Amino acid sequence: MWGGRFKSGAAELLRDYTESVSFDWQLYRHDIAGSIAQAKMLKKIGVLKAGELADIIKGLGEIRDEIDAGKFKWKIEREDVHMNIEAALTERYPAGAKLHTGRSRNDQVATAMRLWIKDQIVSNQYAISSLQSALLEWAARDLHVVIPGYTHLQRAQPVLLAHHLLAYVEMLERDYTRLADCAKRADVLPLGSGAIAGSTLPLDRAFVAKELGFARVSENSMDSVSDRDFIIEYNAACALLAVHLSRLSEDLILWSTAEFHFIRIGDAYTTGSSLMPQKKNPDIAELARGKSGRVIGNLVSLLTLLKGLPMTYNRDLQEDKERLFDTAKTVQSTLLIFAEMLGHIEVNEAACSKAASDPLLLATDLADWLVRKGVPFRQAHHLVGEAVALAETQKIPITQISLTDWKKISPVFDASALEVFTLTIGLATRTTIGSPNPKLVQQQLARWQKILTARK
Ligand code: ARG
Repeated sequence: MWGGRFKSGAAELLRDYTESVSFDWQLYRHDIAGSIAQAKMLKKIGVLKAGELADIIKGLGEIRDEIDAGKFKWKIEREDVHMNIEAALTERYPAGAKLHTGRSRNDQVATAMRLWIKDQIVSNQYAISSLQSALLEWAARDLHVVIPGYTHLQRAQPVLLAHHLLAYVEMLERDYTRLADCAKRADVLPLGSGAIAGSTLPLDRAFVAKELGFARVSENSMDSVSDRDFIIEYNAACALLAVHLSRLSEDLILWSTAEFHFIRIGDAYTTGSSLMPQKKNPDIAELARGKSGRVIGNLVSLLTLLKGLPMTYNRDLQEDKERLFDTAKTVQSTLLIFAEMLGHIEVNEAACSKAASDPLLLATDLADWLVRKGVPFRQAHHLVGEAVALAETQKIPITQISLTDWKKISPVFDASALEVFTLTIGLATRTTIGSPNPKLVQQQLARWQKILTARK
């Protein structure tokens, strides 16, 4: 392709070292879409005749069908996906030799990558919504189940399991909108920037942008061919998404231990041990937690790749693809398998309610009760602390402390104070926006159901 000034062919080791077709072939649909738009534009400005344009479109369509069917012969000596497709086209239709007019692989690859990421984001968003729906369905299925909420992994205050699950729906929504935001900045056409400095030919870039569905045309030819920010942003959004999935994994792993015993993951979504016959392991969640490491690693690789590069295109940039493809595939497969797995989780209600039944989880509510009686919160906190200590020394639950002892701690206490230790009251009296009051949780469920149905 660029052989004109070279006297000898490439060394074999160079060919193997520099090729990218073994992985960038995945860009073929987007590369072909870019080439068809480019050809239509070349016809519009008079570089191609109608018959030539027809040949190019026909040829590219044939090539795409062959690749789809796994019948296309990729040639490693043709280096990358772009040169493989162009060379195959020119072998079949001589007009193919005109396709690269005013174009460089530098703006070509940037265009294909942007198209690819835009499509990928649509798929990722679909998968995020599916996982959100699975969390909602689970929340609705076990709406009445109460578990302890944890801070420092110590039992803190009782919450509805649904409230805990909805926390993940919120997290995933931030991932969804972060990807939408990333798509906006990817939605810029680089094609027509040439290798670095545009073209002397009257290329109609706005026409190409419209053909390819880009919102706008890039404004600086040098930035266009050296910019990989959109790939980093995508990977950063995916890294955070992977971290969220890893945190969900950790909860599922803990909850399925004999120690917690809150859930049972369906057999089809767990594995056994080759040695210990009794084992049932939450491997999907463990792998998702592990895979978040490689997604984070991919982001760091890409940042490192870019940091020392002088303007503009440098071949180093070819190294962006494997990291990008790996991240996209990893988060997508994790989202989809989680969406399925959550439908096969059974909650052990007895274990959950036992864990949530410790009245001490409502100790803060007793302090709030004192506040309502006019006691300053710092004092109230101290008085309840005394009661907790007394129950501990008397080796009784806090609810069994005698009224005389309560009065000794503070005369403000009376029998009605103990009502705060009723779990249903504890939940129902939480009325702040965003709290686990069952009524509010139900409203949240309805709100999310509406949002997710509208997305389908
Ligand atoms: N395969 C190359 C890449 O991924 C395409 C661009 C090559 N450009 C060049 N001037 N060698 O970046």
